[in-house]
Amino acid sequence: MRVLVTGGTGFLGRHIARALLANGDTPTLLGRDFRDAQPLLQAGARALALDMRDASALADACASAEAVCHAGALSTAWGAWDEFYEANVRATAAVVSGCQRSGARLVSISSPSVIFTGRDHRDLMEDAPYPRRFASRYSRSKKLGEDLVNGARGLQAVILRPKAIFGPGDRALLPRIVQGARAGRLRPIGDGQNLVDLTYVENVADAVLLALRSPAAIGGTYTITNGEHIRLWDLIRTVLRRLGIPANLRAVPLPAALAAATLMELGGHVRGHEPMLTRYSTAILGRTQTYDISRARRDLGYQPRISVAEGVERTLREF
Ligand SMILES: NC(=O)c1ccc[n+]([C@@H]2O[C@H](COP(=O)([O-])OP(=O)(O)OC[C@H]3O[C@@H](n4cnc5c(N)ncnc54)[C@H](OP(=O)(O)O)[C@@H]3O)[C@@H](O)[C@H]2O)c1
Repeated sequence: MRVLVTGGTGFLGRHIARALLANGDTPTLLGRDFRDAQPLLQAGARALALDMRDASALADACASAEAVCHAGALSTAWGAWDEFYEANVRATAAVVSGCQRSGARLVSISSPSVIFTGRDHRDLMEDAPYPRRFASRYSRSKKLGEDLVNGARGLQAVILRPKAIFGPGDRALLPRIVQGARAGRLRPIGDGQNLVDLTYVENVADAVLLALRSPAAIGGTYTITNGEHIRLWDLIRTVLRRLGIPANLRAVPLPAALAAATLMELGGHVRGHEPMLTRYSTAILGRTQTYDISRARRDLGYQPRISVAEGVERTLREF
């Protein structure tokens, strides 16, 4: 299958492209910066240099593919609303219109953050309601992207919501935690007992390949995780010790961290740069957030192939 991968130059997109190549499909990587994608291009992937803000070119590119995996996004905890809207809402509208025109199947990558209320939750299912107030601008923009996919007539679409993706090539999740610890700025938030679900990046790529072909998945929304509930701060301490970084960290109570994050966000708005901590990242690090993935197991036949422990080993090798 000829599959257009928006965000094909990014962390997840490159892993999806690698899985497609291994499966005998031909991925076209859509993005702007191809520096990290060279090995994939040498292995047979195609490149399409395009800014997703060019809506008509993006729609045309989608219309000429057999299937589209839409993984391109502004995926950050901090940023201006206009930029999130442009990258995550308007671009999704163009992708949807291109796929509607040609009938190409769309696998759209969203995020469980669209249903995150900022409070503890356990075994959340996909049909949990969207919150009245979104935990971040990013979450709100991803929710509006989901609305466009769900509301499009005649579209053959599947929405995947992978939670906290980690693995080789990640520049956001683990590297930022390690960087904070190296700088002596990392503190466990809350009692350090919070459970979270993580997803090894190759497992997400597996889910994408299943969603591209599964007849039962059309019209569905699926949370994708490793299916293991992990004590986040125990894992962070293990990773730090393995990297030779002091892991004897002094905890900050969650209300104090949230108050500090509120002040830092105000400072960030005034100075125009990303604060060290936001209320969203505080809640992500301090709250229990686990999910039920039985729907993905049932409809997609999804099985997390690589465990968190093995995924951490593979990631540490890259460090
Ligand atoms: N990482 C996670 O933990 C996580 C969790 C849940 C959901 N997700 C979702 O997974 C998807 C991939 O995330 P990621 O972690 O792989 O992010 P990433 O590494 O930052 O990749 C983002 C991709 O989007 C592309 N992109 C952004 N703006 C663009 C524009 N204007 N024109 C063309 N390309 C543009 C980037 O291309 P260039 O760099 O070439 O410009 C890059 O390929 C996103 O939809 C994200 O919301 C991620």
